[in-house]
Amino acid sequence: MNAYDTGKMRALLVADGFVETAEPEEADVILLNTCSIREKAVDKMRSALGDYRAMKRNGSTVTIGVAGCVAQQEGQRLLDQYRELDLVFGPDAVPQVRKLVREAIRSRKPVLDTDFLDLENYPFVSEVDPADHGVSAFVTIQKGCDNKCTFCIVPSTRGAEVSRPHAEILEEVRAFVDRGVQEITLIGQNVNSYGLKQAGEITFAQLLRRVAAVPGVRRIRYTTSHPRDMGDDVIEAHRDLEVLAPQLHLPVQSGSNRILRRMKRYYKRERYLEIVQKLREARPDIVLSTDIIVGFPGETDEDFAQTMSLLNEVGFVAAFSFKFSGRPGTPALRLKDAVDPAVAQQRLMAYQERQRELSREWMLSLEGTVQNVLVEGPSRHDEGVVCGRTGTHAMINFPGSIDLVGQWLDVRVTRAFTNSARGERV
Ligand code: 5AD
Ligand code: SF4
Repeated sequence: MNAYDTGKMRALLVADGFVETAEPEEADVILLNTCSIREKAVDKMRSALGDYRAMKRNGSTVTIGVAGCVAQQEGQRLLDQYRELDLVFGPDAVPQVRKLVREAIRSRKPVLDTDFLDLENYPFVSEVDPADHGVSAFVTIQKGCDNKCTFCIVPSTRGAEVSRPHAEILEEVRAFVDRGVQEITLIGQNVNSYGLKQAGEITFAQLLRRVAAVPGVRRIRYTTSHPRDMGDDVIEAHRDLEVLAPQLHLPVQSGSNRILRRMKRYYKRERYLEIVQKLREARPDIVLSTDIIVGFPGETDEDFAQTMSLLNEVGFVAAFSFKFSGRPGTPALRLKDAVDPAVAQQRLMAYQERQRELSREWMLSLEGTVQNVLVEGPSRHDEGVVCGRTGTHAMINFPGSIDLVGQWLDVRVTRAFTNSARGERV
């Protein structure tokens, strides 16, 4: 979501005459887009800001801004802490980035905008990121989140959920297809609840069908789903729509019902497993990935064992796993029974070790098979090698030139690694 917002800011500023540079010393404006989902992300921001403030102390007149969730959360406090800062604005102010940057350049006083926009007619940005010229594109369908997962800071930094009108989404999809895009990833904080709060709006399952019907759309993915809102109609879309990729990221967070309740996730382990089973019946080749938090307050060895058993039961092919990080203002921060950090660390390592094994087993199962991939671009590491992805999101590198980008090719997997594989065209 942050990468997407950064792209939109780039799009708006470039349309306004700004030119991007990779050299901070050459820049007139530096915008730091920040994430506050875990403390580690905030640490990264502080270290980057330290470098930029040193530039200013050495006489640079660069305008420095902090955008994103840390900006929203800290607001004026950031301006107080970093005198060198000229601009602070939250995720909801991204559509106004041009006005804010111009104001910050002109004004002698720092500019602060952490207001949430009016939910009616929320101005989703349609300008296309100039750095975005691949065969695959993100299309936002929603902003904000109305859930209240007790560990999560997102609802307070990104504000209330608003669904983007479906006509606007379809128009953007068509525009991308005209530019050569073949794969669309629909994004939002909680995509399954798309449209439910806007009178007269279509549902997420209907939206999937409409996007699938746009000529030229060859593959659709979406993220992120909340198991609570994963209805049978979406599962049916997985059954019916060939272009809907056989891959789903479905964050479970924990395998223990007791912890899920404390997280206010509003589903049980059993319900999650039922969704998985139905998805597999609907689309037998589907693969699943997830998000896991270990060390949530009150998590016992038994609770953690439940998470491990869920991992084995589902057989996730990949996961983003994290130690619980207490976030300012969230209900979980007030829970008194924190898990010993050393124990949380051990659990994280145990989870990740088993996950790596499962990811590797899955990749190894592809060895010797022929997979159809959409060629995305040159390999990051090797000359004369390109990479493509299967519908199941496996990355396969194989010898070829960049004119193959955008083609759908059959590739035999010759060697599998944990997160990618090597292959050859057949
Ligand atoms: N601590 C650890 N992980 C978190 N996530 C969200 N908030 C926290 C937190 N306070 C994780 C969840 C979510 C992913 C985007 O980040 O697993 O799904
Ligand atoms: Fe955070 Fe929960 Fe909303 Fe996801 S669904 S953004 S975890 S509050």
